[in-house]
Amino acid sequence: MSYPYQIKSLDAYQKAWKQSVEQPETYWGEVASHFLWRKKWDKTLEWNFKEPNVKWFAGGKLNITENCVDRHLETLGDKPAFIFEPNNPEDRVRVVTYNRLHKRICQVAQMLKNHGVKKGDRVCIYMGMVPELVYAVLGCARIGAIHSVIFGGFSAQSIADRLEDAQAEFIITQDGAYRGEKVIPLKSVIDDALIGNKTVKKVIVYTRTRTPVSMLKGRDLWWEDEMDHAESQVEKNNIVSFPAEEMDAEDPLFILYTSGSTGKPKGVVHTCGGYMVWTGYTFVNVFQYNPGDIHFCTADIGWITGHSYIVYGPLAAGATSIIFEGVPTWPDAGRFWEIVDKYKVNILYTAPTAIRSLMGFGLKPLEGKDLSSLKVLGTVGEPINEEAWHWYDEHIGKKKCPIVDTWWQTETGGILISNLAGVTPAKPAHATLPLPGVQPILVDENGKEVEGNPAAGNLCMKAPWPGILRTTWGDHERCRKTYFSTYENLYFTGDGALRDEEGNYRITGRVDDVLNVSGHRIGTAEVENAINMHADVVESAVVGYPHDIKGQGIYAYVVCQNLHGDESLTRQNILQTVSRIIGPIAKPDKIQFVNGLPKTRSGKIMRRILRKIAEGETQNFGDTSTLLDPNVVNEIAGGKM
Ligand code: WTA
Repeated sequence: MSYPYQIKSLDAYQKAWKQSVEQPETYWGEVASHFLWRKKWDKTLEWNFKEPNVKWFAGGKLNITENCVDRHLETLGDKPAFIFEPNNPEDRVRVVTYNRLHKRICQVAQMLKNHGVKKGDRVCIYMGMVPELVYAVLGCARIGAIHSVIFGGFSAQSIADRLEDAQAEFIITQDGAYRGEKVIPLKSVIDDALIGNKTVKKVIVYTRTRTPVSMLKGRDLWWEDEMDHAESQVEKNNIVSFPAEEMDAEDPLFILYTSGSTGKPKGVVHTCGGYMVWTGYTFVNVFQYNPGDIHFCTADIGWITGHSYIVYGPLAAGATSIIFEGVPTWPDAGRFWEIVDKYKVNILYTAPTAIRSLMGFGLKPLEGKDLSSLKVLGTVGEPINEEAWHWYDEHIGKKKCPIVDTWWQTETGGILISNLAGVTPAKPAHATLPLPGVQPILVDENGKEVEGNPAAGNLCMKAPWPGILRTTWGDHERCRKTYFSTYENLYFTGDGALRDEEGNYRITGRVDDVLNVSGHRIGTAEVENAINMHADVVESAVVGYPHDIKGQGIYAYVVCQNLHGDESLTRQNILQTVSRIIGPIAKPDKIQFVNGLPKTRSGKIMRRILRKIAEGETQNFGDTSTLLDPNVVNEIAGGKM
């Protein structure tokens, strides 16, 4: 496999960027022509950011699984698509060749069909990091069902909300998932999520941990039985390949829920054609993937990074990727390095929070590990501080591996701002330059463009790239309001950024009420709602504060009507409540009980002040004259944790 659209020099990058912006239809039409289409598109691009309405390759017909799998069978059939590294390093490693992957996807497709799942139906997937998760995802895509993967760290309540929003009728899950020393009882969480649910008809359960589960007659089915049956059907009918559904480029491929600054998480919708082109294109360009390279992305497939850079991007390129079931610190903090050594990994893509956490263990876990196979390092999910960048460069890359600091979002489908490994220059803590097709601009509070360099402002995009979200599930108006209404005719990212003299972007973090905790997006409003559900809580305010490892920690100010004489127990009760409502990932790091919150006369909480106190500031709160009761501030500052 070769990639005619792979950019190999700085000069070629500049030319590509220019053409992609001046003649987007010509540029992306050419890139897309290297993918497999059953029918060519009628119109390459049609858009406005007003409604918004974005269509790439409209009228084009394809199935993404034919691009990701069938297309490679002739040349790569016996080559590994995935190497599965189980949680326990002593357990059996599994190699999934492209042939095997194809067979399994066809079986899942048959299994779904057997239960009446059709194109456009929503299938919720709640699994651990096992190859069966990829089979499930691609089995859906094969028949045109819309998958919605939910990260294993979300609670039953969160799942219930998502099932309801997506009106999902089908779930694929597993008995339990291994995570280090723990077993997460996934099926049992699903059972709780289904109490009162009226839409879900079938739950398929893959066996991994042999955790006891309750299986309801008529609703719950074992994956193994269903897959065996599907296999015999496929064999009986002598079908070598389960026919892939013909999809329009703009048909939805998946929904992925993500947190915003208000209310409940929203279902970001990506479509088949544009998302495929964008993930395939960015994968080979940013990481400079070459056939035969071993790619290791440490993200979970429950997040967008796993969707785009474990599943779709690498498979579109015929790559070999690692699926790692466990955690970086078990059985010890050398696990990533052991995996790199064991499989001679060439590309390692991870999060700054993981790097910072591993840095904390010193250099001992690196001893005896041969990391010389590494060629490219990547980071994603949050700003990387210079100290972590240099540690990664020096101790992991041995100063010979370019580091790509990739900035993007669930909504963008794939990477938007990043250097291209070894092709365009890196700069510590900077995502650097936009990819072809990406036109960032910085605007001030009033939406006026901040011109010239250096500059600072809110990061927006002027025009669509193929991977941009198309809508939020079931509520297009919400999509318009959230992303396209803050600044007219611009896509607003929610991030602030700086631009240096050379035009390199440095992302400084969210400018809205979204926290980034260990690279996970969490809305402050969501956490507040969860805390407020605890019986003793009157009200609360949540802010982020700088955290050495997580990047940001969650700081909650809570007004309680009754502490029952036991602050510590009440604190734990609140944590328990948040765990139950959202999931353990949203548990506050600090809870401070206060008598009141600093509010303006119009009743708005002054978060600016709470943020300062959480950061350790005890005075200099700026203008507090609009506060209803300025004394509240001193009281809170005096009681800081
Ligand atoms: C942040 C993850 C700085 C940013 C792919 C964005 C980053 C949010 C970077 C999206 C980076 C992601 N440097 N910040 N390289 N990458 N972010 O949707 O605030 O989980 O808006 O997508 O993560 O998080 P999401």
